[in-house]
Amino acid sequence: ASFNVLMLPGDGIGPEVMAEVGKVVDFLDKQGVARFETETDLVGGACYDAHKVSITDAAMARAQAADAVLFGAVGGPKWDAVPYDARPEAGLLRLRKDLGLFANLRPAICYPALADASSLKREVVEGLDIVIVRELTGGVYFGEPKEIVTLENGEKRGVDTQVYTTHEIERIGRVAFELARKRRNKVTSSEKRNVMKSGVLWNQVTSALHKAEFGDVELEHQLADALAMQLVRWPKQFDVIVTDNLFGDILSDIAAMLTGSLGMLPSASLGAEDPATGKRKALYEPVHGSAPDIAGKGLANPIAMIGSFAMSLRYSFGLLEAADLVETAIANVLAQGLRTKDIAAAGQNAVGTGEMGAAIVKE
Ligand code: NAI
Ligand code: MG
Repeated sequence: ASFNVLMLPGDGIGPEVMAEVGKVVDFLDKQGVARFETETDLVGGACYDAHKVSITDAAMARAQAADAVLFGAVGGPKWDAVPYDARPEAGLLRLRKDLGLFANLRPAICYPALADASSLKREVVEGLDIVIVRELTGGVYFGEPKEIVTLENGEKRGVDTQVYTTHEIERIGRVAFELARKRRNKVTSSEKRNVMKSGVLWNQVTSALHKAEFGDVELEHQLADALAMQLVRWPKQFDVIVTDNLFGDILSDIAAMLTGSLGMLPSASLGAEDPATGKRKALYEPVHGSAPDIAGKGLANPIAMIGSFAMSLRYSFGLLEAADLVETAIANVLAQGLRTKDIAAAGQNAVGTGEMGAAIVKE
């Protein structure tokens, strides 16, 4: 098979960690796992410097045509004063909007070698491997009305509106169930049906979808507040968690702290499946930003970026064995004691970005 990959390294440590993905891509290509046709384009501050916009229409067209987009990170103090519409983040927001990326996948994996870096006790997180599927384009962040109004008595009232349609709930639910089938076959759906009508509908639509199409997957429902508690009490009970935009925002940040460093966290954002081709738009990016404090020094941890590429192997290219291979290589180099500075214990030797990438390829 042959896949068209658009790399958007961006700013700061973005290009440094993307270069390590390049090594992994070359390796898989040489091994004959698949043909990867890669293209690289500008995004963020780097694009602003060249074109006075944070992403060009030409790059957007390439993103639309690609089988997957790999995104590094954007931003930095150099661009703090650029016009609002051209600010580095605007490029990422346009990609999300124009590609229709409604499903945000945030895995939380706790490698045994790093379990002591977690906020929780080793036995609670060691070997943790869960994914939070967050609805990304609906809910209270976008619902109308959204306003601050002045009342007759002079008081003000801030209004945000939580809105979900059957269609929006169904399509995110389908992503979660399909994901679970490629994992441990369990979905936990989370809302607050006890106090929210959108939660009642979320629960009903998810249950109906389960009954109609995904009877082979285990489904449970947990109220979002109870789920937050369970995430820090015993997170290994979960496989795939699916929830709305607001709860997903909060729950995925909780999950991030279970695993240790920001330099370790990958993510994927998926769009709708094209009924004709069965393909879906997808963007893969580390959770971290451009880390201006360490940029240009070769210190960045490339694991979040390489892990994001591994997610593309799994979810965009269907190369499950190759995804396992990359993820196992990451786990193995960590088990061997290899550390970049962000995950090294005090006094422990640390390697640079390039050494970590090379070690993962070798493994
Ligand atoms: P950040 O994630 O860039 O950095 C936070 C801290 O974590 C820093 O100390 C950094 O050195 C460290 N860190 C992050 N990634 C690392 C890695 N791979 N290896 C080792 N250490 C790592 O967040 P911050 O400092 O709040 O933002 C810096 C810039 O990045 C800002 O311009 C911000 O707007 C942008 N940003 C961009 C994002 C994106 O492109 N999706 C996401 C978050 C922030
Ligand atoms: Mg957040």
